[in-house]
Amino acid sequence: MAEPETMNQLNPAPFYLDCDTGIDDALALAYLIATPRANLVGIGTVSGNVSAAAGARNTLDLLKFAGHPDIPVAIGAHDPQNGVFRGGAPHVHGDNGIGGVDLIRSQHQPVQGSAPELLVQLAREYAGELRIVAIGPLTNIAEALRMEPKLPELIAEITVMGGAALAPGNITPVAEANFANDPEAAADVMAADWNMTLVPLDVTMTSVLEESHRQELLASPHPVSRALGEMLGHYFGFYVEIFGRPCAAMHDPLAAAIAVRGVEPALAPTIRVEVDTTSGPGRGQTVCDMRGLYVGYPDQRGARCRVVLSIAEEFPPHLLSTLQADRF
Ligand code: RIB
Ligand code: CA
Repeated sequence: MAEPETMNQLNPAPFYLDCDTGIDDALALAYLIATPRANLVGIGTVSGNVSAAAGARNTLDLLKFAGHPDIPVAIGAHDPQNGVFRGGAPHVHGDNGIGGVDLIRSQHQPVQGSAPELLVQLAREYAGELRIVAIGPLTNIAEALRMEPKLPELIAEITVMGGAALAPGNITPVAEANFANDPEAAADVMAADWNMTLVPLDVTMTSVLEESHRQELLASPHPVSRALGEMLGHYFGFYVEIFGRPCAAMHDPLAAAIAVRGVEPALAPTIRVEVDTTSGPGRGQTVCDMRGLYVGYPDQRGARCRVVLSIAEEFPPHLLSTLQADRF
């Protein structure tokens, strides 16, 4: 089980979320609002599942629905560092990015500045304390590193959903979506000297919500939880061809739960990770140095990234109990 209720729930750390609000991003956002382990102080959006602007719209509407319209939302990069946004993943997340669910339109607008500007501003304001949860392509994070080269010293920890160590990719045979959508940005972020946790497909594809869990959300007394259950209907349809049954991998909410210590990793070696930015069949692949696999992953010189390969408990019960809490 995760660490018992500790000071961090009485005085939760400040978090910045960078997302491409699609359906699992929406679950991660709801989780970060519902958990007492996080103080969500800012959100940036990036093109991925949907455009950065559409992601901001979904985020603002969900924040209002969840009773937190005050959290600043900044629109980030529309295009990846090298290339153009190619329209997102409507077949996975629906045309509007949240499974066709119509949330009431928030009257709140995104803040004036860009997502990288908001991140750098918050990193300076919460120097040494701010934690980043990045669950979309890493374009904004890479831009923030260029804007403030001291960013890694200002950030307590960055948790990234992305990549694949031993698991296959989900966009190509070897590349995961967030990294494949901007390999150059991912390479820049992985090369920076910060306290990083990577949550790859190896662990997210084994953290699966089943139809019974979705029915529990649909039956919830909380309207936010019910809306998430409706969104998952579309997402489950995509995963039938992946898993052979209606269910869904909880990529982003798992990364959020690991970032706030709501779920503890079981196996998480600190290893060297590079990103393939060539234009060959490996483009976007995370090249993880797993050669310690057979001897318990001894320390690797120069390694900085903790790669979560498994967690210590089943994720769905923790996710559902957090989303059913009276925090919306
Ligand atoms: O590969 C899964 C990741 O890509 C998740 O963050 C999902 O929301 C998409 O952004
Ligand atoms: Ca995402």
